[in-house]
Order: sequence, then structure tokens, then C-alpha cells
Amino acid sequence: MAESVKPLLEVQGLKKYFPIHQGFLRKLVGHVKAVDNVNFTVAAGETLGVVGESGCGKTTLGRCILRLYTPTAGKVLLNLDERTIDVTEMEGEDQRLFRRRAQIIFQDPFASLNPRMNILETVGEPLLVNKVAQGRELEERVKDVIVQVGLRVEHLRRFPHSFSGGQRQRVGIARALVVNPKLVVADEPVSALDVSIQAQILNLLQRLQEEFQLTYIFVSHDMSVIRYISDRIAVMYAGKLVELGAKDALLNQPRHPYTELLLAAVPRTSKESRGQRVVVAGEPPDVSNLPSGCVFRERCKYAKEICSQEEPQLVALAPGYFASCHFAQELELAGINQPIKYASYPQVD
Ligand SMILES: Nc1ncnc2c1ncn2[C@@H]1O[C@H](COP(=O)(O)OP(=O)(O)OP(=O)(O)O)[C@@H](O)[C@H]1O
Ligand code: SF4
Ligand SMILES: [Mg+2]
Repeated sequence: MAESVKPLLEVQGLKKYFPIHQGFLRKLVGHVKAVDNVNFTVAAGETLGVVGESGCGKTTLGRCILRLYTPTAGKVLLNLDERTIDVTEMEGEDQRLFRRRAQIIFQDPFASLNPRMNILETVGEPLLVNKVAQGRELEERVKDVIVQVGLRVEHLRRFPHSFSGGQRQRVGIARALVVNPKLVVADEPVSALDVSIQAQILNLLQRLQEEFQLTYIFVSHDMSVIRYISDRIAVMYAGKLVELGAKDALLNQPRHPYTELLLAAVPRTSKESRGQRVVVAGEPPDVSNLPSGCVFRERCKYAKEICSQEEPQLVALAPGYFASCHFAQELELAGINQPIKYASYPQVD
């Protein structure tokens, strides 16, 4: 019998609660449940898109996976050829290996680069810090990766201010890739860029994924970007994973009302509904004071009594396909190319 292949990443029961302190004595008055009991796996070589509105916990999730934040509870496992690293408990050699095998690309290519370091120093720094290379070897590795991301060797001695936004993001990508990572968390990597530049960077990330055999967790609030780049999509709402599945299935036949609402905001492509677009109506709940039952119920047009009484769990509806809604099996929700049924929501365009 063939041995089943382990996923590259396993996220189990992950929680990150930020304490809320108030008053002169900084009394603990509650918690922001930024990530609340999230479970999923990521296979080697795939792109998992993580989508949801501002404040739903996307960045916190990415930072917990990379151990830039210490999770409140749960486990993150990175299964490498060499060994499995328990990211939540790691120290010593495991930590050093993890820092090379897992990297981040930040949203803001202006804020994330040190203005006083030239491109050689910026891209070479992770090699130095992780004791991978120095001197001539470092310079050679930086030159190689700079060319791979579409910059030129002449750029090495220049400083970030002399580059455009798109070029700076290429520098950010080079800095992530120079240590030969397996897993890259890209947190809104194109959101700060002009639309015309976004496609170039997305295409670059796709090409580099093949060349370097990378696995991406791609975080964005923009469903159009997520649709373009992802193999599977995870939808987050108020710190929870509400739907997870293969891209085409999730886009064409969503099973969670929140996903339907997000998809309704994407510009239409079918003849019947082209030109229509709705804004995502309502506000996400206060994550320090969530409603009882389903976290989405205050915005859900399908909500029934049970929705305020019982919290729906993320359950498998088909192999590899999960949603957390009491009525996920019954509702017939509109996919990305179907006519919009959210007539009660304001239309724009
Ligand atoms: N360091 C922190 N301390 C306290 N609360 C935090 C901290 N970081 C994030 N939060 C809160 O946790 C929640 C999730 O924030 P997070 O930045 O992960 O959301 P996001 O989905 O990335 O949003 P955006 O799309 O705006 O980047 C928010 O309510 C935010 O205010
Ligand atoms: S559980 Fe109820 S409130 Fe929540 S998404 Fe489903 S129908 Fe809507
Ligand atoms: Mg964020």
C-alpha cells in the first residue's frame, strides 16, 4: 500500500487571543479572539488563499504560523524532508531550520524595507542572520535571486527609495526567497500596488512557485486576487474559518452565506449579471464581544432561531470540503457567476 504523503503544514486548534487591559491599573477586561480554533492543512506545492474582511484575523493567523506571534493554544507542524518541526514548541536547531524554511512577504513594500540598507544588504541579511552564507558567496546568492525576481545586478548598490512600488515588492520577494524556503506566507503582497502592477507581481509569484517549488499561504481581503492565485480557498470571519475547499467548488457553489456575500462583491463575469456589483453590507462583529451562536448571524439573511443558540462547527460536507453553517447542506447559494440574489444590498457601478 502506498504511504500517504503528509501535508507540508498542519494547523490544529490554533488560537490567538489578545488581552484587553483598561484603566490606570491596566485591569484585564477581556480578550480579542483574533484567531479562534482554526484547523487546516496545506499540501506541498499548493497555494492556499486566505480571504476575509479587515480585522477577521488573517494577519494574526499568518504570524502565528510563522511564530512571529506565540499562539494562545493549538499546534502548528511543518513536515520537512529532514524532520517535522513543532512550530509552537520549537527551539535550538529546529528554530534555526524553521527560520530558513518558512518566510514572509509583507504588504507594504515601502514600510518593510530599511531605507538605510542597499539591495545587497537587504536581500543578503537573512543569509547572514541565519548563518547560511557571507562574503562572496552571499553576494553571488543575492545576485542570482535578484535576477530571478526580475531586477538587475546593477541594482545591488541602490537604496529602496530609488525604486518603484513594484520593484520594492520584488526586493521583498527576493529577501524571502534567498534562504530557499519551502513555505511562504504572503500577507496582502499586492494590496499596496497599482492595479496594473498587481498582475505582474502575481505572475512573478506563480512563476517562482514552480521554479523554487514553493508552498504559499496567500492572504488577501480581495476575492479577485484570491481567485486568480489560489488552488484552495479558506474564508475567515471574526477569527474563525467558516469555509474551506477547492477554488472552483467554493467559487461556483459556496456553502456558507458569508462566502456568498463576499462573492457578490466581486465584479460579475457572466453575461446575465455583468456590470452588477454589490458592496459587502453590514459590519463584522466586535471580536472582543462576539454574538452567541453563529458569529455571522447578525448579517445573515438565512439566520433562524438555532443560529443564535448553537455555534455551528466546521464540518466536512465532501472530501476536503468544509463549512460551518447549520444549513450548509440545504441552502442554494449563488456562486461567483450567478445572478446576484442580494437585491436588498445596495448596488454600485
Ligand atoms: N497586537 C495586537 N494586539 C491587540 N489586538 C490585535 C493585535 N493585532 C491584531 N489585533 C486585533 O485582532 C483582530 C484581527 O486582526 P488582524 O490584523 O489579524 O486582521 P486582518 O484580517 O489581517 O485585517 P486587515 O485586512 O485589516 O489586515 C483585530 O480585531 C485586531 O484589532
Ligand atoms: S448558521 Fe445560521 S446565521 Fe450562521 S451562516 Fe448559517 S444560516 Fe447564517
Ligand atoms: Mg492583515
